[in-house]
Amino acid sequence: MNYRHDFHAGNFADVFKHVFLARMLAYLARKQAAFRVIDTHAGAGGYDLASEEALRGGEWRDGIGRFADLSEVDEAARELLRPYLDVVGRLDADSRPALYPGSPRIIEALIRPQDRATFCELHPQAFAELRGNFRRDERIACLNLDGYMGLKAGVPPKERRGLVLIDPPFERANEFEVAWSALKSAHAKWPTGMYALWYPVKDAAALARFAKAIAQSGLRRVLRLELAVDELAAGGKLARTGLILINPPYVLDEEAAILLPALAQKFARSARGDVLREWIAGE
Ligand SMILES: C[S@@+](CC[C@H](N)C(=O)[O-])C[C@H]1O[C@@H](n2cnc3c(N)ncnc32)[C@H](O)[C@@H]1O
Repeated sequence: MNYRHDFHAGNFADVFKHVFLARMLAYLARKQAAFRVIDTHAGAGGYDLASEEALRGGEWRDGIGRFADLSEVDEAARELLRPYLDVVGRLDADSRPALYPGSPRIIEALIRPQDRATFCELHPQAFAELRGNFRRDERIACLNLDGYMGLKAGVPPKERRGLVLIDPPFERANEFEVAWSALKSAHAKWPTGMYALWYPVKDAAALARFAKAIAQSGLRRVLRLELAVDELAAGGKLARTGLILINPPYVLDEEAAILLPALAQKFARSARGDVLREWIAGE
């Protein structure tokens, strides 16, 4: 297990994921009833983009670093970005936030006193940082265990409303299969929960097979969102990323129709920016 998110924090794929995470949390907070968030692969929580790793990776420059000037982003998209941008905070003269918020920081900021969150992280160093960041927050439990086991043990939550974020490092070749199998089992125990599975697109054909398997799985209300910033190049830099969303808020599809083109315009490395928004399975 070598993956360290520090090299990638704040890149376009992180911004894409976190923008939609913030939208779903904002939606859940519309009702007074408490909800639970389970983040199966939480990472450290927040990232210093001036660290050696972040500077060496430099990926944030073509991600959050492009958010210093949002003047060409239309008003509707800017309004939808607001919950995310409020958590990120001001960018400095180098287009860097004081600390780039990972999913745990975004969740921490957008849950209310009555809500609860469970963060799982397996890497010892990332877990030590994660626990250090949230040990004083009684709403949050940090668990040093395999996120898929944490998910199995955590559903259905007693709140009966909420969101599961599955954001694995995709270090192993069969991560899709493992993640999907964990998601299906969790869904069988908690069919009304919202689920978000993040993925990188390295092999478009493999992704198409995966989408077909989901379509044939019998699960309903499955939305697939993708953002591409360039053409896919074998062995090249990550250029396309996506989210599989199960039971997304009913407004999310419309919001994605506004947000995805705005993100593609912001992050495109060439004229090859592209988006995808499709219901793999409907009602
Ligand atoms: C893509 S990063 C997570 C980023 C985080 N969700 C965010 O948005 O800020 C993936 C994380 O999963 C951790 N990890 C790898 N395998 C794991 C497992 N089986 N269970 C829990 N965490 C794992 C890695 O150490 C890494 O911190």
